[in-house]
Amino acid sequence: MTPAAATMPPQRGFGETMRVDAWWKQPLLIFAGFAAFIIYSTWAAFQGTHYHFGPYLSPFYSPELFGDSPHAWFGPKPGWWPGWLLFSPALLILWAPGGLRLTCYYYRGAYYKAFWADPPACTVGEPRKTYLGERSFPLIMQNVHRYFLYLAIIFIFILTYDVWKAMWFADGFGIGVGTVVLAINVVLLAAFTFGCHALRHLIGGFRDQLSRSPTYPAYRCVSCLNRRHMLWAWLSLFWVGFADLYVRMCSMGIWHDLRLL
Ligand code: FES
Repeated sequence: MTPAAATMPPQRGFGETMRVDAWWKQPLLIFAGFAAFIIYSTWAAFQGTHYHFGPYLSPFYSPELFGDSPHAWFGPKPGWWPGWLLFSPALLILWAPGGLRLTCYYYRGAYYKAFWADPPACTVGEPRKTYLGERSFPLIMQNVHRYFLYLAIIFIFILTYDVWKAMWFADGFGIGVGTVVLAINVVLLAAFTFGCHALRHLIGGFRDQLSRSPTYPAYRCVSCLNRRHMLWAWLSLFWVGFADLYVRMCSMGIWHDLRLL
């Protein structure tokens, strides 16, 4: 008996699909959400002012390596900084958490669809005929994700210390709305960071007999967060921007911080 000849389905043109649902809604919302965050965070990072208020420090500016606030680790802007180069403490450090998000497995899937239409959605035709994937330059660079994860974990500890400092006002211990805002920020960022796919692999995912591994309980914790990685990614993205906005508005005198304790 002669085997039937296999035929490939015809290649779809850009946007062509047999889907009848509103497949374009999700990439559109993701595009709008990412674009809003990128515009706001870039604007805030370049300001270089109104990033601290009392014991609060905006997470966009933490750790403040050099700067004018009392939170600066090494004092004011260094003398060797070129005069023609704009200085903002945020620009010295934001590349690290930004790099984590840029190379995150969830975000990659989301922004490849929303920004590059590659493809716009599952089973929807894309605007190009070739697929180089993440095994060639430039997307092979996404493999640095694990190193951004190491840095992000250090940032979680630094931001936790910021919350501790946010409890010490000029008149002693206290808790303000800003303290709560910064604390929620750390919780959400930690839930996002500790649910990372790369961490799940590192913590035991590479083993053949995971259940016998001493890291099994930790692996289960990471897996628990990992199941909602997309949710943590969005909540932490929104809240870190809001935390900066809160500190900024208080510093500008537009909002007034309420002391709870
Ligand atoms: S996969 Fe999202 S932070 Fe690592």
